[in-house]
Amino acid sequence: RTFLSLMGAVALTSSMMLTGCGAGSGDDRKIVRIGHVQSQTHPDHLGLEAFANYINEKLGDKYRVEVYPSELLGSQTEMVQLTQTGAIDFVVASTAIMETFSAKYQIFNLPYLFSSVEAYHEAMDDPEVTDPIFKTTSKAGLETVAWLDAGTRNFYTIKTPINQPSDLKGLKIRVQQSPTNVEMMRLLGGTATPMGFGDVYTALQAGILDGAENNELALTDNGHGDICKYYSYDMHQMVPDLLVANYAFLNELSDEERAIFEEGFQIVKRTEQDAWEDAVAEAKDKAENEQHVNFIYPDTAPFQEAMAPLHDSVLAANPELQPIYDLIQQHNAAHTAD
Ligand code: GCU
Repeated sequence: RTFLSLMGAVALTSSMMLTGCGAGSGDDRKIVRIGHVQSQTHPDHLGLEAFANYINEKLGDKYRVEVYPSELLGSQTEMVQLTQTGAIDFVVASTAIMETFSAKYQIFNLPYLFSSVEAYHEAMDDPEVTDPIFKTTSKAGLETVAWLDAGTRNFYTIKTPINQPSDLKGLKIRVQQSPTNVEMMRLLGGTATPMGFGDVYTALQAGILDGAENNELALTDNGHGDICKYYSYDMHQMVPDLLVANYAFLNELSDEERAIFEEGFQIVKRTEQDAWEDAVAEAKDKAENEQHVNFIYPDTAPFQEAMAPLHDSVLAANPELQPIYDLIQQHNAAHTAD
């Protein structure tokens, strides 16, 4: 699968080199390619489709936006690399994968960083929180242009219900390929098995993994609930997904085009976020009633306590994150007071 998708990416890159841009003869519109890992019913895809329609309507004489779902252009890591080199123009990436490109993204992967959904949304909408991180990879060829809701990540397992951190002991749990996520599992006593999203289903089915962690959509959209029958709301991470652009592409837009693209980024964000809550409710319903997944609501405090040292170690290793971390705490405090 990886080989095939890589071949797909290579073919794509060479066909772009041959034709320069556009679909070939007579069509000199630039094709704007966006890759992501989700299905065509996922809120991310709905947001990107709305973006494509908007840009095609406003700037259709110069650009044609094409959205490639389901890891068609490669794994998330591969697609970020394709975006970095400009082989494609945008990718939806998780904050975990972005850690490889800038350690500053570690802040968003801290367990229990946000104390409520309201604080999470407000902090992510605060440019003082996000700008220093989103613009940090410009020199490396990437810039984050919008955050999308990716819900709350929780543990789910094939056989062992997770009621407390010690239940994770000795279990092989898939995590995203990021140092922070690996350290998180170490603190909990589980065995972190980092791998790409597209490989998780097969690894669960083969028994290479005992479980994974993700939002509810992974159960249904990705079929993980066919195999994992216990989903425990330990609520360890509220994490955004990111729409990441090739920096040169952004820079080469005229001011007028840039303004239209900026409006387009807001459209992706709004469409995605508006669809999120219903998508989660639907996934939960399907998981419960069709896949017979048991939802468990453990006391989250022991999980939070076990993972707390990660805040200190990430801040100690990246002191420049401290002011951003403090700002996030202000957003948290504002909402505890409500
Ligand atoms: C979620 C998230 C993706 C991420 C995936 C994963 O689906 O939205 O961006 O790649 O989890 O666990 O890899």
